[in-house]
Amino acid sequence: MAVDRRLETILRTTLGDSFKTYVLSPQIHQRPTSHADIYHMILVKPNPNSCRANSAHFALKVFKHANDSSDAAYEERHDPGRLWSRESRVLSWINRKVRFSTSVGVRKPYLVPQFHGASLDHFALTTSFISGEVLANLLSRVPETSETPNQRDIFEGHFIRGIKDVAKFDGLINAEENRMDAPDIFNKEATQHQVRENRALKCNLIRLYYAFHSDAFHLDHFGLEFDTQEVLNQLRAEQISLDSRISELQQLSKRLHVPVRYQHNDCNGQNMIVTGKAPYSNRFVDLENFGPASSVSDISSYCIVLTSGGNNHIFRSENFPHYRHVYHSYEHAWRNMDLDLVKRLDSYVNGQFGEVVGQIMTEREYADLTAGFFADAISKTVKLAAAGVRFGSSNTPVTSRNTFDVSTSRTDVEELFRAVNSMSGLINTCTDPTGVRDYFYTLGKTLNDIGYNVPSGVLVEIRSGISIGNNVMGQIPTFKRAD
Ligand SMILES: Nc1ncnc2c1ncn2[C@@H]1O[C@H](COP(=O)(O)OP(=O)(O)O)[C@@H](O)[C@H]1O
Ligand SMILES: [Mg+2]
Repeated sequence: MAVDRRLETILRTTLGDSFKTYVLSPQIHQRPTSHADIYHMILVKPNPNSCRANSAHFALKVFKHANDSSDAAYEERHDPGRLWSRESRVLSWINRKVRFSTSVGVRKPYLVPQFHGASLDHFALTTSFISGEVLANLLSRVPETSETPNQRDIFEGHFIRGIKDVAKFDGLINAEENRMDAPDIFNKEATQHQVRENRALKCNLIRLYYAFHSDAFHLDHFGLEFDTQEVLNQLRAEQISLDSRISELQQLSKRLHVPVRYQHNDCNGQNMIVTGKAPYSNRFVDLENFGPASSVSDISSYCIVLTSGGNNHIFRSENFPHYRHVYHSYEHAWRNMDLDLVKRLDSYVNGQFGEVVGQIMTEREYADLTAGFFADAISKTVKLAAAGVRFGSSNTPVTSRNTFDVSTSRTDVEELFRAVNSMSGLINTCTDPTGVRDYFYTLGKTLNDIGYNVPSGVLVEIRSGISIGNNVMGQIPTFKRAD
């Protein structure tokens, strides 16, 4: 096989003068995604005196235009130049700045691959290639619903190890010392970012309306023809204004009182590579959406988007509160760079994490974070369904196929709203219970308007708060600090 000269040129441009004496191995593995191509490339140092050649493995990511999504807002959000620029800056910032101190000095946490360089001409960037398996594949090989306790334990072991890694990532990224110069990178873009997110949400809702009502639209010889304007006309006929709903939801979301922190923002098992060395050795890739967001959005998407066994699986588990407590305990420890606490947590068992949570936050903060968790989970589920109808489930990896299915999304969303309804008691301890109730009510109504079917009785109960119980939140910690 001949060496691909075009790819070699791109790789060498990103590497600059480094690795000049190395030659490219013709073996290149390519992995195309919806808006980038990832190439695994190997440079080998020729050494005539030894049969053991020195080699360096790279992941070259070349951003490209989304494969014809026919949605202007989607294209804009996935603009190759913007994603390339953001991911390059984030990777180099994390590589340069994120550290933690130990008794013997300062250490790099290796949360992400090493960043080698970027090329504006090709919208390409190069990182070290991480050998290992993505966590999603590992999880999907062990059926989490398996009857055998042994299999369930293996699944839970991988899953909890992933939680600890998410907590370490979020904690260290937001540690005071590490954040010092970060705001400058993103704050300038915050307003534009919100505008883009709102536009993307609108185009997602339009896509989903179309998918749910496809029989009402024009069919031509080639099948369904998606047309934004046609959908908007129909929505107008039904007197639904997406713009006013979206701005109403944006206002209401502030009343959830969830802190804003830096988040990975695409935190799921597909973007976590498990290396052999436990613990805390999963590496995060795909940092193009990294930035300020709800402080529970990473753990929420990690828990909700799981494996081919189904979404939402984890929050049905009786251990669900435990998983969240593990996350909050470790996140707190890393954010404060309290390595002694990390060490103690490593020896804790189920039950003890609740005690830690009871000490590090108040009941009000806990309730706000719980409501935020479900708000983020619902948004994520809707986003994935829209991506699924946009590109078709055959284009998505096997492990996440079901997450992209519209009808699954319907039942998932309904289940999430029922969960919100069942934690009515907890919502009453939120900073602004009425705001939280109005948020979920308005969100549910909007989703129903585009074709979801959350029973109106559930929405009315959420808004009025008449339902009793704390089902989803079985084991609530005992809180030591008053609000
Ligand atoms: N540095 C890397 N080392 C090993 N595998 C990688 C690396 N970067 C990406 N990958 C693999 O390629 C896949 C897609 O890359 P990603 O950056 O997530 O692209 P996208 O933004 O299109 O999702 C990842 O899920 C992972 O399996
Ligand atoms: Mg990815």
